[in-house]
Amino acid sequence: MPARSNVQLQIIEAFNFRHATKIFDPDKKISDFDFETILEAGRLSPTSFGHEPFKVLVIQSPEMREHFREFSWGANGMMNGSKGQLGTASHFGLILASTAETMTAGSDYLQDHYRSVKQLPDDVIELFNGAYGKFQSTDHRVMSDREISDWSGKQAYIVLANMMTAAALMGIDSCPIEGFDMELTTTALSEHFGVDTTKWKPAVMFAFGHRASDPQFPKTRRPMAETVSWF
Ligand SMILES: Cc1cc2nc3c(=O)[nH]c(=O)nc-3n(C[C@H](O)[C@H](O)[C@H](O)COP(=O)(O)O)c2cc1C
Repeated sequence: MPARSNVQLQIIEAFNFRHATKIFDPDKKISDFDFETILEAGRLSPTSFGHEPFKVLVIQSPEMREHFREFSWGANGMMNGSKGQLGTASHFGLILASTAETMTAGSDYLQDHYRSVKQLPDDVIELFNGAYGKFQSTDHRVMSDREISDWSGKQAYIVLANMMTAAALMGIDSCPIEGFDMELTTTALSEHFGVDTTKWKPAVMFAFGHRASDPQFPKTRRPMAETVSWF
């Protein structure tokens, strides 16, 4: 096999560097400029049909973060007796997923998105309405409220993956977090953050910062031959 190029080496190094950071150094903050770059990697992420069915909430107020502590076992340090990602991350937040209210084929929201954001002409909008309608009703059967917000959540996970990779390339640590109670998180978003939860549901939480110490365990993965099949 030929030697890896510099870019290839950087990519693999970044993926090895990234680990699910449990405790961040609370004194090491990410600069605004670096975090803007992480957010831009998220914003430029691909989404199915280009619908961008996600929104990012960044929660920097320590008091506001505490609204999630009681029911966010994946972020509260419960397992290591620390303040967890909630209490130590430089940047903490959630990615919200769009609900059926906006993401049902033919919705007013989507007509406006096609026109204002994607700047599509009317005849192409008609094609999008037909293709997305068929996708929802037949191809993938994404019909119920739950199925539609789960589908939006899939897009949110791609967004977060790109944010974490961008961060790792800059030597910034991160943790994806789904260790939280969905229903209680939804209620907290509505009560304390003014989120219209008929339009938005929580998909995944995130934490970014700089590790307090090196990972406790080495990275383990299945071997390539068990992970990939070629035909
Ligand atoms: C969608 C998702 C949700 C996760 N939720 C949590 C979580 O709630 N708390 C946590 O500490 N780690 C969480 N993790 C981290 C995984 O446990 C971790 O990525 C996995 O064990 C592999 O370890 P590594 O990322 O350090 O290589 C999550 C990872 C993913 C992809």
